[in-house]
Amino acid sequence: MAPKIAIVYYSMYGHVRKLAEAEKKGVEAAGGSATLFQIAETLSDEVLGKMHAPPKPTDVAVLEDPAQLEEFDAFLFGIPTRYGNFPAQWKAFWDKTGKQWSTGAFWGKYAGLFISTGTMGGGQESTAIAAMSTLTHHGFVYVPLGYKHTFALLADLSEVRGGSPWGAGTFASADGSRQPTAKELELATAQGKAFYEVVSKVNFA
Ligand SMILES: Cc1cc2nc3c(=O)[nH]c(=O)nc-3n(C[C@H](O)[C@H](O)[C@H](O)COP(=O)(O)O)c2cc1C
Repeated sequence: MAPKIAIVYYSMYGHVRKLAEAEKKGVEAAGGSATLFQIAETLSDEVLGKMHAPPKPTDVAVLEDPAQLEEFDAFLFGIPTRYGNFPAQWKAFWDKTGKQWSTGAFWGKYAGLFISTGTMGGGQESTAIAAMSTLTHHGFVYVPLGYKHTFALLADLSEVRGGSPWGAGTFASADGSRQPTAKELELATAQGKAFYEVVSKVNFA
Protein backbone atom coordinates (compact mmCIF):
# COMPACT_ATOMS: atom_id res chain seq x y z
CA MET A 1 0.00 0.00 0.00
CA ALA A 2 1.32 3.48 -0.86
CA PRO A 3 2.51 5.40 2.21
CA LYS A 4 0.29 8.19 3.45
CA ILE A 5 2.44 11.29 3.60
CA ALA A 6 1.69 14.58 5.36
CA ILE A 7 3.71 17.74 4.81
CA VAL A 8 3.27 19.76 7.97
CA TYR A 9 4.65 23.27 8.22
CA TYR A 10 4.45 26.59 10.00
CA SER A 11 5.17 29.68 7.90
CA MET A 12 4.81 33.24 9.09
CA TYR A 13 5.96 34.98 5.88
CA GLY A 14 5.43 32.27 3.24
CA HIS A 15 8.96 30.96 2.66
CA VAL A 16 8.43 27.58 4.31
CA ARG A 17 5.08 27.33 2.54
CA LYS A 18 6.87 27.62 -0.81
CA LEU A 19 9.34 24.93 0.19
CA ALA A 20 6.41 22.75 1.32
CA GLU A 21 4.81 23.02 -2.11
CA ALA A 22 8.10 22.11 -3.79
CA GLU A 23 8.43 19.09 -1.47
CA LYS A 24 4.91 18.02 -2.43
CA LYS A 25 5.80 18.32 -6.11
CA GLY A 26 8.75 16.01 -5.49
CA VAL A 27 6.66 13.39 -3.70
CA GLU A 28 4.18 13.48 -6.59
CA ALA A 29 6.92 13.30 -9.24
CA ALA A 30 8.14 10.13 -7.54
CA GLY A 31 4.66 8.59 -7.79
CA GLY A 32 3.25 9.39 -4.36
CA SER A 33 0.86 11.92 -2.94
CA ALA A 34 0.97 14.16 0.12
CA THR A 35 -1.44 16.23 2.19
CA LEU A 36 -0.41 19.70 3.34
CA PHE A 37 -1.19 20.94 6.85
CA GLN A 38 -0.26 24.22 8.49
CA ILE A 39 0.47 24.45 12.20
CA ALA A 40 -1.99 26.62 14.12
CA GLU A 41 -1.02 30.21 14.92
CA THR A 42 -0.52 31.11 18.56
CA LEU A 43 0.08 34.85 18.27
CA SER A 44 -2.69 37.48 18.36
CA ASP A 45 -3.62 39.44 15.22
CA GLU A 46 -2.23 42.51 16.97
CA VAL A 47 1.20 40.93 17.43
CA LEU A 48 1.15 39.44 13.93
CA GLY A 49 0.35 42.90 12.58
CA LYS A 50 3.33 44.37 14.41
CA MET A 51 5.48 41.61 12.91
CA HIS A 52 4.17 42.48 9.40
CA ALA A 53 2.92 38.92 8.95
CA PRO A 54 0.52 38.50 6.01
CA PRO A 55 -2.77 36.61 6.51
CA LYS A 56 -2.42 32.82 6.52
CA PRO A 57 -3.49 30.94 3.39
CA THR A 58 -6.99 29.55 3.59
CA ASP A 59 -6.41 26.67 1.16
CA VAL A 60 -4.31 24.56 3.55
CA ALA A 61 -5.93 22.78 6.49
CA VAL A 62 -4.89 24.04 9.91
CA LEU A 63 -3.67 21.29 12.19
CA GLU A 64 -5.51 21.81 15.47
CA ASP A 65 -5.31 18.32 16.92
CA PRO A 66 -2.25 16.03 16.70
CA ALA A 67 -4.63 13.06 16.34
CA GLN A 68 -5.21 14.29 12.77
CA LEU A 69 -1.71 13.00 11.97
CA GLU A 70 -2.14 9.50 13.37
CA GLU A 71 -3.49 8.13 10.08
CA PHE A 72 -0.30 9.14 8.21
CA ASP A 73 2.80 6.99 7.81
CA ALA A 74 5.42 9.58 7.02
CA PHE A 75 5.96 13.31 7.48
CA LEU A 76 7.96 16.17 6.07
CA PHE A 77 8.10 18.91 8.68
CA GLY A 78 8.75 22.54 7.62
CA ILE A 79 10.29 24.85 10.22
CA PRO A 80 11.12 28.58 10.10
CA THR A 81 13.99 29.03 12.55
CA ARG A 82 13.71 31.00 15.77
CA TYR A 83 17.12 31.28 17.42
CA GLY A 84 18.26 28.07 15.74
CA ASN A 85 15.25 26.09 16.95
CA PHE A 86 11.51 25.49 16.48
CA PRO A 87 9.25 28.55 16.62
CA ALA A 88 6.81 28.65 19.53
CA GLN A 89 3.94 27.76 17.19
CA TRP A 90 5.59 24.44 16.39
CA LYS A 91 6.50 23.89 20.04
CA ALA A 92 2.90 24.57 21.09
CA PHE A 93 1.85 21.86 18.65
CA TRP A 94 4.37 19.32 19.95
CA ASP A 95 3.36 20.16 23.50
CA LYS A 96 -0.14 18.92 22.64
CA THR A 97 1.21 15.48 21.63
CA GLY A 98 1.46 13.94 25.11
CA LYS A 99 -1.13 11.33 24.21
CA GLN A 100 0.70 10.33 21.01
CA TRP A 101 3.99 10.26 22.94
CA SER A 102 2.65 8.06 25.75
CA THR A 103 0.83 5.66 23.41
CA GLY A 104 3.56 5.53 20.77
CA ALA A 105 1.16 6.74 18.09
CA PHE A 106 4.01 8.17 16.00
CA TRP A 107 6.57 5.46 16.88
CA GLY A 108 8.18 3.93 13.80
CA LYS A 109 6.76 6.56 11.44
CA TYR A 110 9.18 8.37 9.14
CA ALA A 111 10.12 12.05 9.24
CA GLY A 112 12.20 14.47 7.18
CA LEU A 113 12.81 18.18 7.77
CA PHE A 114 13.10 21.36 5.74
CA ILE A 115 13.98 24.73 7.15
CA SER A 116 14.02 28.47 6.54
CA THR A 117 16.35 30.92 8.25
CA GLY A 118 16.80 34.64 7.79
CA THR A 119 20.49 34.39 7.06
CA MET A 120 23.35 32.08 6.23
CA GLY A 121 24.69 30.70 9.50
CA GLY A 122 21.33 31.55 11.07
CA GLY A 123 20.72 27.98 12.17
CA GLN A 124 19.44 25.64 9.45
CA GLU A 125 21.56 22.77 10.72
CA SER A 126 21.12 23.61 14.42
CA THR A 127 17.35 23.70 13.91
CA ALA A 128 17.46 20.20 12.43
CA ILE A 129 19.64 18.98 15.28
CA ALA A 130 17.32 20.61 17.84
CA ALA A 131 14.37 18.82 16.22
CA MET A 132 16.06 15.45 16.78
CA SER A 133 15.08 15.45 20.44
CA THR A 134 11.37 15.75 19.62
CA LEU A 135 11.62 13.16 16.83
CA THR A 136 13.52 10.79 19.11
CA HIS A 137 11.09 11.02 22.01
CA HIS A 138 8.22 10.18 19.66
CA GLY A 139 10.19 7.37 18.01
CA PHE A 140 10.11 8.86 14.51
CA VAL A 141 12.64 7.42 12.06
CA TYR A 142 14.55 10.42 10.73
CA VAL A 143 15.18 10.42 6.99
CA PRO A 144 17.96 12.86 6.11
CA LEU A 145 18.26 14.30 2.62
CA GLY A 146 21.85 13.12 2.38
CA TYR A 147 23.82 13.55 -0.82
CA LYS A 148 22.88 10.61 -3.03
CA HIS A 149 20.47 12.49 -5.28
CA THR A 150 21.64 16.02 -4.56
CA PHE A 151 25.44 15.99 -4.55
CA ALA A 152 25.75 18.42 -7.47
CA LEU A 153 23.26 20.88 -5.96
CA LEU A 154 24.72 20.71 -2.45
CA ALA A 155 28.29 21.05 -3.75
CA ASP A 156 27.45 23.98 -6.03
CA LEU A 157 28.90 27.15 -4.51
CA SER A 158 28.16 29.41 -7.47
CA GLU A 159 25.36 31.24 -5.67
CA VAL A 160 23.89 31.67 -2.20
CA ARG A 161 21.69 28.68 -1.42
CA GLY A 162 19.97 27.32 1.66
CA GLY A 163 19.63 23.64 2.43
CA SER A 164 22.02 20.93 3.56
CA PRO A 165 22.12 17.16 3.82
CA TRP A 166 19.81 17.62 6.81
CA GLY A 167 17.09 18.89 4.48
CA ALA A 168 16.11 21.56 1.98
CA GLY A 169 16.24 25.17 3.08
CA THR A 170 15.98 28.80 2.10
CA PHE A 171 17.33 32.11 3.36
CA ALA A 172 14.50 34.61 3.79
CA SER A 173 16.91 37.51 4.54
CA ALA A 174 16.71 39.65 7.66
CA ASP A 175 13.66 41.54 6.38
CA GLY A 176 12.02 38.52 4.73
CA SER A 177 12.31 40.00 1.25
CA ARG A 178 14.37 37.22 -0.33
CA GLN A 179 12.24 34.48 -1.87
CA PRO A 180 13.23 30.81 -2.32
CA THR A 181 15.47 30.58 -5.38
CA ALA A 182 15.13 28.10 -8.23
CA LYS A 183 17.96 26.02 -6.75
CA GLU A 184 16.41 26.01 -3.27
CA LEU A 185 13.08 24.90 -4.72
CA GLU A 186 14.87 22.28 -6.83
CA LEU A 187 16.50 20.94 -3.67
CA ALA A 188 13.13 20.81 -1.90
CA THR A 189 11.59 18.92 -4.83
CA ALA A 190 14.56 16.55 -4.85
CA GLN A 191 14.01 15.96 -1.14
CA GLY A 192 10.34 15.15 -1.72
CA LYS A 193 11.36 12.61 -4.35
CA ALA A 194 14.15 11.07 -2.26
CA PHE A 195 11.87 10.91 0.80
CA TYR A 196 9.26 9.04 -1.20
CA GLU A 197 11.92 6.68 -2.51
CA VAL A 198 12.76 5.72 1.08
CA VAL A 199 9.26 5.50 2.55
CA SER A 200 7.70 3.74 -0.43
CA LYS A 201 9.95 0.74 0.31
CA VAL A 202 8.48 0.37 3.81
CA ASN A 203 5.58 -1.96 4.52
CA PHE A 204 3.24 0.15 6.65
CA ALA A 205 0.44 -2.44 6.72
C1 LIG B 1 11.66 35.92 16.82
C2 LIG B 1 12.42 35.52 15.60
C3 LIG B 1 13.62 34.83 15.74
C4 LIG B 1 14.34 34.47 14.61
N1 LIG B 1 15.53 33.79 14.77
C5 LIG B 1 16.29 33.54 13.68
C6 LIG B 1 17.55 32.89 13.81
O1 LIG B 1 17.98 32.47 14.88
N2 LIG B 1 18.30 32.72 12.69
C7 LIG B 1 17.87 33.16 11.47
O2 LIG B 1 18.60 33.00 10.49
N3 LIG B 1 16.65 33.71 11.31
C8 LIG B 1 15.87 33.91 12.38
N4 LIG B 1 14.64 34.48 12.21
C9 LIG B 1 14.12 34.71 10.85
C10 LIG B 1 13.14 33.59 10.48
O3 LIG B 1 13.78 32.33 10.50
C11 LIG B 1 12.51 33.88 9.12
O4 LIG B 1 11.59 34.93 9.31
C12 LIG B 1 11.80 32.66 8.58
O5 LIG B 1 12.74 31.67 8.24
C13 LIG B 1 10.98 32.97 7.36
O6 LIG B 1 10.22 31.83 7.06
P1 LIG B 1 8.64 31.97 6.82
O7 LIG B 1 8.46 32.99 5.75
O8 LIG B 1 8.20 30.63 6.35
O9 LIG B 1 7.99 32.38 8.11
C14 LIG B 1 13.87 34.81 13.32
C15 LIG B 1 12.64 35.47 13.19
C16 LIG B 1 11.91 35.82 14.32
C17 LIG B 1 10.59 36.53 14.15
